[in-house]
Amino acid sequence: MRDIKVSASILGCDLSAVGAEAARAVTSGADWIHFDVMDGHFVENISFGAPLQKAIAKRCFMDTHLMVDRPEEQVGFFAESGSDMITFHVESRSDIDHTINKIHQLGMKAGLSIRPDTPAEAVFPYLERIELVLVMTVEPGYGGQGFLSYTLPKITQIRERAEQVNPSLFIEVDGGINGDTAPLVIKAGADVLVSGTYLFGAKDMFTAVKSLKGERTA
Ligand code: DX5
Ligand code: ZN
Repeated sequence: MRDIKVSASILGCDLSAVGAEAARAVTSGADWIHFDVMDGHFVENISFGAPLQKAIAKRCFMDTHLMVDRPEEQVGFFAESGSDMITFHVESRSDIDHTINKIHQLGMKAGLSIRPDTPAEAVFPYLERIELVLVMTVEPGYGGQGFLSYTLPKITQIRERAEQVNPSLFIEVDGGINGDTAPLVIKAGADVLVSGTYLFGAKDMFTAVKSLKGERTA
């Protein structure tokens, strides 16, 4: 059984108290902080960027998700502001190999993300060279959406392929993850669960983290 990690999505927190919210996620047992960057082009929304990440980084592993048209131009800013991992979209307009190389040269882990309707094969050529695949389980752009269950077979396809070429690959899922959908994605092969609305909206975040990992609390 794989060790399951929880990555707390800052987009779902009380943004008027973002530093305290990030700290609350870490003390509640979240393994990573997930930082969603949107540029108003790749997705219609604009969220936040490197200066805000810098303000909350260094509390734990910083998992940066770039939903931007040209990620290669951004990786330097996010390296400076504390990213440990940068994940960008296979559908973006940057050269994928160059961008992976640049992320690695700057000392970070590299991830590739795919939208719900992009087939698994789109990431297959890169699996040996990256540390993570992020399977979007909602359309990127907004928190609080419903989980798209048709993405489940894609998680399994990527896990099966990774078993052959890169067994330590993380498979992360993002969108609509809660106590009900977590067991489904874990069964399909995911081992990093992003959660915003469910975690930050929970009465007791510590219990919510445990429930995502399938652990019981005493
Ligand atoms: C959506 C973002 C997600 C979002 C997930 O584009 O990539 O990280 O915060 O939010 P929930 O957990 O609310 O679905
Ligand atoms: Zn995200």
